[in-house]
Amino acid sequence: MDTKTPTGRAAFWDQVYATKTENQVSWYQDNPEPSFGLIRSATSDLSASIIDVGGGASHLPDALLDSGYTDVTVLDVSSIALERAKARLGIRAAQASWITADVTRWKPQRQWRVWHDRAVFHFLTSREDQEAYVKALTQATANGSVVIVATFAPSGPERCSGLPVQRYSAEALSARLGAGFRIGHRTMVAHKTPFGSTQDFVFGVFRRV
Ligand SMILES: C[S@@+](CC[C@H](N)C(=O)[O-])C[C@H]1O[C@@H](n2cnc3c(N)ncnc32)[C@H](O)[C@@H]1O
Repeated sequence: MDTKTPTGRAAFWDQVYATKTENQVSWYQDNPEPSFGLIRSATSDLSASIIDVGGGASHLPDALLDSGYTDVTVLDVSSIALERAKARLGIRAAQASWITADVTRWKPQRQWRVWHDRAVFHFLTSREDQEAYVKALTQATANGSVVIVATFAPSGPERCSGLPVQRYSAEALSARLGAGFRIGHRTMVAHKTPFGSTQDFVFGVFRRV
């Protein structure tokens, strides 16, 4: 399976989600923190538009809808992941928007006030894919938009789900996103996996300028 092409990526991630239950994946969280807290700090305006890029089957849309946010979108390359999230949400799934796409090929049709990505950008190890991500990010946001990106930290794992990842410090992440995104708050988080191990993440909060 060539995980560098959109079809190969979709097949790879569909297979991951089809063969593992939700807490059999290292990134699983019952409680999507610090993501949810960082989004709340970014905006308490419940009509603010929020997109979770590579959201998979995360519980973040549940937390956002529970808190009253009304404009929530989840994008993922795996339709199986999104179907899992929708099944969990039941009729509430209709309150969110769902996009099946590879972020590196995606052409955003609108802009969001908050962009959130936990553990997706770090899978893009080629310069070409990283640039395509930044292009989509730029198209999908406007001046003043808040961009929250979490990747494995330099002390984090070198691979995830068998795929190599690019690890970042907050400064390296900032340099990679470029001058159009000014870094503010940044934090290191030791994520406890369902298997009892820990994974060091860096969370960067940027403002589009
Ligand atoms: C490690 S999981 C993280 C899921 C979620 N953000 C969370 O924190 O629970 C990575 C997710 O990124 C998705 N993904 C990987 N490459 C992608 C791409 N190029 N475009 C969109 N989604 C992608 C996968 O399907 C998977 O759901």
